[in-house]
Amino acid sequence: MSIIYDENKKVFKLDTAKSTYAFHVTNDGTLLHLYYGAKIPETDITHMLRIPGDEPFVPAVHDSMGPHSFDCAPMEFPTSGMADFREPCFQLMDKYGMSACECVYKDYRITDGKPKLNGLPATYSRDGDAKTLEIFCTDPHNGMEIVLMYSVFEYCDVITRSVRVKNNGTDPIELRRLLSTCVELDRMDYDMITLYGTWARERHVQRFPLRFGKQSVDSNRGATSHAHNNFIALCEHTATEDFGEAYGFALCYSGSFVAMAEVNQYEKTRVVSGINPYDFSWHLECGEEFQAPEVIMTYSNEGIGGMSRNLHDIMRNNLIRGKWRDKRRPILINNWEATYFDFDSDKLIEIAKEAKKAGIEMLVMDDGWFGHRNSDRSSLGDWFVNEDKIKGGLKKLVDEVNKIGLKFGIWFEPEMISPDSELYKAHPDWCIHIPGRRRNTSRSQLVIDFSRKDVRDYIYSRVKDILSSANIEYVKWDMNRQLSEVGNEVLPPERQREIWHRYVLGVYEMQERLLTDFPDLLLENCAGGGSRFDAGMLYYSPQIWTSDDTDAIERLKIQHGTSLCYPCSCFGAHVSASPNHCVGRITPFKTRGHVALPGTFGYELDVTKLSDEDKNAIKEQIEEFNKYNPLVRNGDYYRIGDPFATDRFDAWEFVSKDKTEALLEYVQVLKEPSVFLQRVRLKGLQSGKYYRCEQNGRVYSAEVLQNSGFDIPDLWGDFMSYIAYFTMV
Ligand code: GLA
Repeated sequence: MSIIYDENKKVFKLDTAKSTYAFHVTNDGTLLHLYYGAKIPETDITHMLRIPGDEPFVPAVHDSMGPHSFDCAPMEFPTSGMADFREPCFQLMDKYGMSACECVYKDYRITDGKPKLNGLPATYSRDGDAKTLEIFCTDPHNGMEIVLMYSVFEYCDVITRSVRVKNNGTDPIELRRLLSTCVELDRMDYDMITLYGTWARERHVQRFPLRFGKQSVDSNRGATSHAHNNFIALCEHTATEDFGEAYGFALCYSGSFVAMAEVNQYEKTRVVSGINPYDFSWHLECGEEFQAPEVIMTYSNEGIGGMSRNLHDIMRNNLIRGKWRDKRRPILINNWEATYFDFDSDKLIEIAKEAKKAGIEMLVMDDGWFGHRNSDRSSLGDWFVNEDKIKGGLKKLVDEVNKIGLKFGIWFEPEMISPDSELYKAHPDWCIHIPGRRRNTSRSQLVIDFSRKDVRDYIYSRVKDILSSANIEYVKWDMNRQLSEVGNEVLPPERQREIWHRYVLGVYEMQERLLTDFPDLLLENCAGGGSRFDAGMLYYSPQIWTSDDTDAIERLKIQHGTSLCYPCSCFGAHVSASPNHCVGRITPFKTRGHVALPGTFGYELDVTKLSDEDKNAIKEQIEEFNKYNPLVRNGDYYRIGDPFATDRFDAWEFVSKDKTEALLEYVQVLKEPSVFLQRVRLKGLQSGKYYRCEQNGRVYSAEVLQNSGFDIPDLWGDFMSYIAYFTMV
C-alpha cells in the first residue's frame, strides 16, 4: 500500500519504492508535516514533532496540544495571519477586508489512479501506477473548502501535490495566494540548486548553501522565463551526482511562479512553490473553485543524479502524452538559421532536396511565411500565407516537399500581435493592455489577450485553417516576449488581476484544442529559445526548443543544467552552422552532432551550402542517431562531467534500464598539453558483468569501467568529441 492512514496515530504515510512522506492530524484538525526522506517502516512517528510552547515574542496557540507556537510548527499547508510568520501558501481577503485564514482537517479519500486537474497540465496514472490521497479541509470562519491532493508514483519515487479551493461560504472572496506545495524539513544544512540564465544562456546551474531567511527564484513575467526555471532542488552540502540526499521540486506550470526555501530562526527549512502571488488575485463567487497547479516532488539518496533520473522517468512516462511519447521523432531541418526571413518556396525546395539526400526526414518552415513579414517588425496575427514568398500557396509547397520524401512542419507564434498588422488595425483592443497607458513593445510585438475566449477562438480558427490546408505534421509554437501592462477592457476590476493566470489557462486550452483536432501532430514548444522550458509545456509538447544558442560548447552547460530536471529526449537540439551565429565559435561538425545526439536531433543550417564532407557527415550522424535514440529515450541518464566545474571536458552516459547497453559521450572542451590520458568512470552498469566496447573491441568488467574508468583516445585540438558504445557480453 503506497498510502496508509493510521487512525490511532492520525498519521498519513505516503510511500514510494525508496521514500516516505508523512503528516499528522492533530485533535484540533491542524495538519502538521512529519517527515519527507528515505523510506521508513512505521507510522508511529508523531514523536518527530517538537513544537516549542510559549516562545518569547511568538504568539502561542492554546489548543488540545497545550500552548504551542505555529511559528515553530511544521505546517502541512501554512495559511496567512494565524501566528505562523513564515511564507504562507494560502491567503485571501474576505468582504470585511480580513486576510487571515485556516485550513482545518475534515476528512480524506484514497483512490486508485489520479484525477485530472481542471484546465491544467499534470502527471497522469498509467496502468494503475499511481494512487491519490485527497485531504478535505475547511476554514470554518468563512466556509472556504480546501482540498489538498497528493499522488504517489511508487516506481519512480515521485509524489505530486496540488490544491484546489472552493468558496462554500455566503459571500464572495478574493483569493490572494494559493501556492501548491509546502514541505517542512527539520534541518537547514542543505544546498539549494536553481537554474538561472538569460536568452541564449538558459538554465545554468547555481548551487549555494541555505542561509537564514528566504531564498527564492521567481518570474513575474507571465511565462516561466529565461531568467529562472521553476524547478529547484535541495541537497545535502556533501551531495554529489552519485551520493547523498537530494530533493527536486518541479512546478507543472508555465506562467509567473515562485519557488522558495525559507530558513527560520529555529534552523528549519520550509520549501514552497506555486503561482507567484505577486500581482495575483482571483475572485471567487459563492460556489466557485480555483485549482492550483501541480508540483512534482522527488526524494533520492542516490545523489543529484538519482533525483534527475526520477524526474526524467515521471516526465517521460506520466507527463508527456500522445502518439509521440514513445516514438522516435523525425529528424528535421529548420530553415531559421539557414535563411532567417529571407526565403521563398524555391529556396525551401532546394533545402528539402539536399536534406533528403542526406537522410533528413522533415522540413520545418520557420518564421516569415505569413502576412508581409520580412523582419521581426510586422505581421504577427496575420496568419495568411504570403504568396509572394510561398508561390502558389502552402499546399503546393507542402505537396512538393512531401513528393521529395520529407514531412513538413511550420512555425507559429499564436500568442502575439504586431502593431504593424491587419489584425491590430481591426482589433487594437485584442492585445493585453491598460486602457490609456503606453503599450510597450518587445521585439516590436504585443501579447495577444489569450485570457479572452473570443480572441482565442479567432486565432485558433486561423491556425486550424492553415493546418487543415495542407499535410502539415509538426508545429513549432513560439512565444517571443513576456507580459507587461497587464489588463484588458473586458474583465471587471475585481477580476483584472486574474489575467496573468487566465492567460496561461488560455495557452493550455489552445494547445489542448490543437492536439484534439490534430492527434498525430508533433508539437514543439519554444519561447525565444528556452523561456518556457517547464513541466507544464511537456504535457502538450513532447519536445521543447532548448535554446536559441545552438553552439555545441554553449549547449554543454545549457543541456547539463536542463537535464537536472528534464529528460534529454525532450531537448530540441540541432546541428547548426559554424562559426556559430550566437557566439562565433568554430567547432567540428562531428562534435555538433554528438552534442545534439541526446536531444530530439535535427539541423538548423543551409544544407545546400555545406561541403560534401559535411553532407556525408550528416549521413553518419543520422545513422548514429537511429542507433542510439531508443537508448536515449528509454535509458537512464548519468552526468559524468560538469562543464561548470572545468573547461577541460564534459561527458555523460545513457544506460538501458536492463543495463545491457550503455552509450558514453565525451567532449574535449579545451585541449591541454601533457594530459596524456583522459579517463572517465562509467556509471550505472551491472556489477559482475562484462561489457564490450564497440569502438575498440575490448571487453571490460563493469568494475573496471566504473572504478578505474575508460580511456578516451587522445583527441587533438579544442572542441573534439568521442562516443563509446558498450554492450553486455
Ligand atoms: C525565436 C525562436 C527561434 C526562431 C525565431 C523566429 O527566437 O527561438 O528558433 O523560431 O524565434 O523569429
